[in-house]
Amino acid sequence: MNAPNTLLNQSFAIAADHGGFGLKQHLLDYLKSKNISNFIDLGTDSDKSVHFPDYAGKMVETIKSGKAQWGILICGTGLGMSIAANRHAGIYAALCHDTTTARLARQHNNANILAMGGRILGPTVAEDIVETFLHTAFLGDRYQDRIGMIDPGC
Ligand code: RB5
Repeated sequence: MNAPNTLLNQSFAIAADHGGFGLKQHLLDYLKSKNISNFIDLGTDSDKSVHFPDYAGKMVETIKSGKAQWGILICGTGLGMSIAANRHAGIYAALCHDTTTARLARQHNNANILAMGGRILGPTVAEDIVETFLHTAFLGDRYQDRIGMIDPGC
């Protein structure tokens, strides 16, 4: 099969809880500096304590409704966000700590959500992870077959 394109020109959403708020704001500035503006910011809008499943839910709804094709979710560790998002069929949230996990999340897993830990990653590492996730295409073929086994019918 032909490998689908990268995520570069596809609209996306970004959301965080209070543990990911600082990194989210950093990435918003970074994306704007790169003239990337085809995204929706789903919040949160401050470092006041909120519940990460609410924001994972907003992200899933945004992707499932077609308002965005993929997303970035950030909490303190990235764990809660990825666990919550992955409860939904058709959602493949990959918790990435470096450019290798980001590259393989796209090449092998066709991940449609990049999850990161705002209390784990430095800002420059997070920028590199986002760039890698954006620019790496899914390899398809046997990897598609395996994804089909996770979510038959999706
Ligand atoms: C919030 O304190 C923290 O638990 C949350 O951001 C996240 O790391 C959960 O997995």
